[in-house]
Amino acid sequence: MSKKIDRLEERLDKARMRIKRSEDRQVIESVFDTKTLLILYHMFNKGILNEINGVISTGKEANVYWGIQPDGVDVAIKIYRISTFNFKRITLYLEGDPRFSRIPRARSGLITAWASKEFKNLLRAEAAGVRVPHPIHVQRNILVMEFIGEKGYPAPTMHQQDPEKPEKARKAILKAVSTLYHEAHLVHADLSEYNIMLWKEPVIIDISQAVVLDHPHSEMFFERDVRNIVAFFDDFEIPKLDLAETIAAIRQGEYK
Ligand SMILES: Nc1ncnc2c1ncn2[C@@H]1O[C@H](COP(=O)(O)OP(=O)(O)O)[C@@H](O)[C@H]1O
Ligand SMILES: [Mg+2]
Repeated sequence: MSKKIDRLEERLDKARMRIKRSEDRQVIESVFDTKTLLILYHMFNKGILNEINGVISTGKEANVYWGIQPDGVDVAIKIYRISTFNFKRITLYLEGDPRFSRIPRARSGLITAWASKEFKNLLRAEAAGVRVPHPIHVQRNILVMEFIGEKGYPAPTMHQQDPEKPEKARKAILKAVSTLYHEAHLVHADLSEYNIMLWKEPVIIDISQAVVLDHPHSEMFFERDVRNIVAFFDDFEIPKLDLAETIAAIRQGEYK
């Protein structure tokens, strides 16, 4: 038994050593629970990751880290935190999705379903031709994906920086909404300037709560997404779009 614990401690230490943070050990312990450390240990061992280099974002339910693959390529690692997870909220978004018909009751099962939902939504969006971070790996509460940015510096979100060519950016984003709807049969459901990164083109992120068109509220979410984008660009000196017309055009697949 004590041998088992020794082995566990050894693994945890090995995982901790590859997490480079300026803060001390205590911080690592409070953010990375034992199970998360073990999954990371597994990922380091399998050659999915070589190290974690620093935190990019600490959100309400997840932190995003800058990581490096063994071949030196940057990746983004999104780790959902079990302790602060809003389980009521997410159950709402899992409903009506045939891919998640058996919603797990246990918290760890639900969080696993949530991370895997983000992974699957990324795959589906990418296959449809929407620019999203390329998904690389998902395991329990940890999602590894393409790093949007350069040399460890994430690209700005559209909230942090105005697009240089607003009219072009608006068009690309609304086209992405249309492709997501008609080709991937998904609605993002949390689309705003906070979840769009400005890289060579706008990149849609944070797609865990996206719902299938069968979801009872998909049309309402769809309208809200379009409204957020149209409203955001109303502050720029470009021709304004009529909201109702834009919603109708995208819905009918006529948005050009
Ligand atoms: N693939 C990525 N590459 C680089 N940075 C990312 C990536 N995904 C997310 N980020 C950064 O992390 C932040 C939070 O990510 P997000 O998926 O929106 O999580 P949250 O659920 O906390 O809103 C983003 O605003 C962005 O700055
Ligand atoms: Mg977000």
